[in-house]
Amino acid sequence: MTARWISPPVRISVVAKGDADRRERDDRQGVRDERRDSRKPIDSGDRGQSRDRTGAGRGGVAAGSRPGVRGARRPFIHRDGRVIPLVLDVTDAAQIAAAVERVEALDILVNNAGVALYDDLTDRAALEQSLAVNLFGPWAVSQAFLPLLTRSRGAIVNNVSLMALAPLALTPSYAISKAAAFNLSQSLRALLAARGVGVHAVLTGPTDTDMTRGFDIPKASAESVARAIFDGVAGGEEDIFPDPMSRTVAQSWRASAAKALERENAAFLAMVSAEAA
Ligand SMILES: NC(=O)c1ccc[n+]([C@@H]2O[C@H](COP(=O)([O-])OP(=O)(O)OC[C@H]3O[C@@H](n4cnc5c(N)ncnc54)[C@H](OP(=O)(O)O)[C@@H]3O)[C@@H](O)[C@H]2O)c1
Repeated sequence: MTARWISPPVRISVVAKGDADRRERDDRQGVRDERRDSRKPIDSGDRGQSRDRTGAGRGGVAAGSRPGVRGARRPFIHRDGRVIPLVLDVTDAAQIAAAVERVEALDILVNNAGVALYDDLTDRAALEQSLAVNLFGPWAVSQAFLPLLTRSRGAIVNNVSLMALAPLALTPSYAISKAAAFNLSQSLRALLAARGVGVHAVLTGPTDTDMTRGFDIPKASAESVARAIFDGVAGGEEDIFPDPMSRTVAQSWRASAAKALERENAAFLAMVSAEAA
């Protein structure tokens, strides 16, 4: 199977065998632009391509005209026949390896699985569980699918959180894990640039899902957030702010000293790597 995306509630972009063969052929013929264009179905509906989208339920998924893969801890049936279900707990190395075996080609990996616990930093287990799912999960899944993403010059999308920038101390372990996942995304972005793999971090604000069920606050719909994420990927945004609340900090983040330093550090890494090569 070749997938356009993978979602454990990460989503993987898988492609079927015929597509994989075509990609190999394109590779040999140097048809790189055409292959990049083939990722376009994730473009926004406002460009008239909404027919190319599918929603995949929790956490939201969008897919192109090629099949998509959605991972979840428990077996499930998706209402869209193009979505191929995978059983995948992101803390389970064997399940990750088995998922990789089922995917022949991949355009976009969306690390969307997450756990948010109420805690007060007195319980080490809460911190460990948050890190296991929200940090080591995307790390492990990204590393496992990296060969496929390198081959497709694809993209990793990490659904982080606005709490990566500023914690809400009702869920401090969650915020710590998301800050670490954001930093992971920044390093992966610098490290994978030379392979042509893009890394996008999504600084999501309050979204209407099970995770925020108990919060009586304004929330964006999961569907609007999913659309904005894929629009951001299509638009080449490194850091994606997909909802009204997160958008209030987008401009200041992009113009910030921290973002400038990230770019400087990435340029330094590229220079050192080029010298060492
Ligand atoms: N909702 C928000 O306001 C908000 C804001 C910022 C960021 N986010 C991020 O958005 C992502 C999606 O969250 P959501 O809002 O859709 O929350 P959700 O409704 O609680 O969904 C979380 C999903 O993660 C899955 N999951 C948890 N642990 C997993 C594991 N070990 N392996 C595989 N899947 C696992 C859950 O699967 P099960 O159904 O099996 O438990 C569930 O489908 C998360 O990364 C979250 O941190 C959400």
